[in-house]
Amino acid sequence: MAEKFHRATFTRNFLKTITRIKNPDEMLAEAKAEGLEKTLGVFDLIILGVGAIIGSGIFAVVGIAAAGSADGSSLGAGPALVVSMIIAAFACIFSALCYSEFATMIPVAGGAYTYTFATLGEFAAWMVGWVLMLEYAIGFIAVACAWSNHFVQFLSGFEHVLPAWLAHPAVWLVNDSFSAAKIAAADASVHIPTLFGIPICINLPAIIVVLLTTMILVKGTKDSTKMAGVMVFIKLAVIALFVVAGAFFVKPDNWVPFAPNGAAGIFAGAFLIFFAYIGFDALATAAEECKNPQKDLPIGIIGSLIITTIVYVSVALVLTGLQDTSSAVPLAFLKAPMAYCMSMLKMNWAAGLISIGSLAGLTSVLLVLEMAATRILYAMSRDHFISQRFQKLHPKFHTPALLTWTVGILAVVGILTLNLDVAAELCNYGTFTSFIIVCVAVLILRKTDPERPRPFKVPFSPVTPTLGIICCGGLMIYKSMQPSGSALLFPVWLGFGAIIYLLYGFVKNRLNENKIHLEKVELKKQEMMK
Ligand code: ALA
Repeated sequence: MAEKFHRATFTRNFLKTITRIKNPDEMLAEAKAEGLEKTLGVFDLIILGVGAIIGSGIFAVVGIAAAGSADGSSLGAGPALVVSMIIAAFACIFSALCYSEFATMIPVAGGAYTYTFATLGEFAAWMVGWVLMLEYAIGFIAVACAWSNHFVQFLSGFEHVLPAWLAHPAVWLVNDSFSAAKIAAADASVHIPTLFGIPICINLPAIIVVLLTTMILVKGTKDSTKMAGVMVFIKLAVIALFVVAGAFFVKPDNWVPFAPNGAAGIFAGAFLIFFAYIGFDALATAAEECKNPQKDLPIGIIGSLIITTIVYVSVALVLTGLQDTSSAVPLAFLKAPMAYCMSMLKMNWAAGLISIGSLAGLTSVLLVLEMAATRILYAMSRDHFISQRFQKLHPKFHTPALLTWTVGILAVVGILTLNLDVAAELCNYGTFTSFIIVCVAVLILRKTDPERPRPFKVPFSPVTPTLGIICCGGLMIYKSMQPSGSALLFPVWLGFGAIIYLLYGFVKNRLNENKIHLEKVELKKQEMMK
């Protein structure tokens, strides 16, 4: 009986501990006392947002979303890609409104992780931080590899100028081992070196771009946004060039039939193109570095999403007007659709500029994804989930240098070891989960803390957050029903996260609570002795 009683008490205490909520006022005080430098204004935020969003999604994935994948595993939306884009944009806008409410209410580093700590408690917060690493850190690795692909494609355009080893580098020097194995299986002349029977693949361009991005971020957020600003300008300019130049050659016949694969094609397209919108939430993770978060953050988040949607819809209209997407398309269209269409129109100079634009686009996405990953880990280290050593800021640049380098080095390890197709899908799972949690958290905090000042309120709550949950949940369920490795790996990732929490974060937090308790007791003793 006694044993039963203890067990029940233990369970009750354990549950109480892991659902411990961190008061938003405490978070704001901590951020004020030891926070990051405040350098970002509304313009910087829009640049960061558009920089984070427009990347490999519109320069590459859009081809498959329109025409379907080469192996037939994903149906194309055809000209109805515009509808797919609007569906994906709505899923993001509902979540973006929820992000804005939180970002203005608790403008501290950490984004969805921080909001979860304020609503669902310690364990849920750790799990959200862990899942966000899928979105930002694994997404960072996946985009670095996409950058490498575009760079290799760009170099091949100079085959008459560059030496052969540079214009067409060895497969093992520009691919991960899984992609290299696929290429070698299709082409017997491709040689991949081995060490004790293990294939050696070093994706050098991806590793170099990761190290360069890390160096820029360590130097400072303001410098990174300046850099992202230049990249954003270049990518928007080449997209404008494509839309304006391409518009003169659009054949309205290509828009018929409008939806060659019906609703199934439209939803498959929406799922794929959702990737193209990932990144706006990264703005919320930089809230602590905003000069005026209450006013600027919602404008930054929603503004960058609206600009992106207009850009995407224009590209989709011109792209599907130039290329018939209702029947089989060439492989080159699937890899780089905009550049392909320009070459077909005999505008090779425009195709070259689009390649440069896509490299710039991917570079700015890299900057923002790595920055978001470090800012979440920074908030998690403040909460004792990871070592407090990561809290240390660089004496000159005032950035979390050790943390940024740790993320950079781990990304290099990921590039050398991961299967990137699966990694990119896992990135989508991480994003869906964090969007859903933020929508749920808005609903909870409206009930548990209705009096807290909300400089920005989600309109029509609870309808808007509920629609966010339905849209993101629907897309996630849709993906889980398709046979894929990522659908199995996602629960494994969650399981690992729970184990790490129990072995490290839980223990560290209790030790910290004990320390605070002992300090309080000591203080009281001293007061009584006086
Ligand atoms: N939205 C980002 C991209 O398209 C992740 O690359």
